[in-house]
Amino acid sequence: MKTKFATGLVAFAAVSALALSGCSGSDRGGETPDEGGESAAAGFEDGAKIGVALPQKTSENWVLAENLFNDGLTEAGYDPIVQFANGGVSEQQNQIQAMIEQGVKVLVVGAIDGSQLGSQLEAAESAGIPVIAYDRLLQNTDAVDVYEAFDNFHVGELQGQALLEGLAERKGEGPYNIELIAGSPDDANSKPFFDGAISILQPKIDDGTLVVKSGQVTQQQAATQGWEAENAQNRMDTILSGSYKDDDLHGVLSPNDTLARAALTSAKQAGKDVPVITGQDSEVESVKSIMAGVQYSTIYKDTRQLVQATIDAVDAYKAGEEPTVTDTETYDNGVKVVPANLLEPVIVTEENAADVYAGDPTLEDLTM
Ligand code: BGC
Repeated sequence: MKTKFATGLVAFAAVSALALSGCSGSDRGGETPDEGGESAAAGFEDGAKIGVALPQKTSENWVLAENLFNDGLTEAGYDPIVQFANGGVSEQQNQIQAMIEQGVKVLVVGAIDGSQLGSQLEAAESAGIPVIAYDRLLQNTDAVDVYEAFDNFHVGELQGQALLEGLAERKGEGPYNIELIAGSPDDANSKPFFDGAISILQPKIDDGTLVVKSGQVTQQQAATQGWEAENAQNRMDTILSGSYKDDDLHGVLSPNDTLARAALTSAKQAGKDVPVITGQDSEVESVKSIMAGVQYSTIYKDTRQLVQATIDAVDAYKAGEEPTVTDTETYDNGVKVVPANLLEPVIVTEENAADVYAGDPTLEDLTM
């Protein structure tokens, strides 16, 4: 029987198909930020250097972004400098500083820790370089001009809804024992992901439908330092041996696919039935797992769309204009509300995967 939410999935798939058919997020007709305010850029020439500072390769979306930025910026007539900072925050600080010294005209930053780049971003601002926060918000600085991202809070809401849906579908009547996993505390996205999910789950925790047997219910308690699979797996091992000796674990809220697979490994090693588990990023291994009926859900954030929206913003700065944004209220970084161009994340389960991934060269074959 199709529930209300499952029907909703079909609608999401249709929206996603439209989104994939060519219109980028910033074509959707948004507002222009800072009407009457000072412009971040006075325009620049063809062939300009564009700096793209990416974090560690903690999920496949970052790896995809590297090639898409290199190819997309080159095609659009720029000279891209795209770098990962696998060594951590100080490496990323040095890379950004070097990009400024090399004369980049726009800086795109996917931060490891969005609150640790203050002096580099100030240096960019002083040099008249517009700064685009990519996927992760840059915090505690006014030296950030626009935020290009998927709607992070909505990602969490979709995960919370999927968990409830999956429990009803696969685990019979409640109450259900669940555990919560949160992302890395230094990533600004971890809070909206967690808060969005909790906004859906809290009423069910309060009325006893959901029981978190470990008692670890805050973002801090559930955090996974560095988004590392090993950290999530160790924490889940401890929880399972401490709180689930004689009980089933019915569900797990996981903020992304890498951590979902880590929790599934932990449950398997502890001899538990497969819990209903959420994810994010549509990583190849997780999409295969969903199609095999194991992982319950993931989120599709088409990296091609986000990179294109970011290149559209670079084009706007090149023309001496402000980029299109869709939200001027939500992303307060502690110093200012950063105008944001938010794209729509899509929830994916076995039921709608073929529709959602149609046209994505990496994923569509996995659903056949
Ligand atoms: C991204 C997620 C990703 C996580 C770990 C977050 O900032 O939004 O898509 O799973 O980082 O790489």
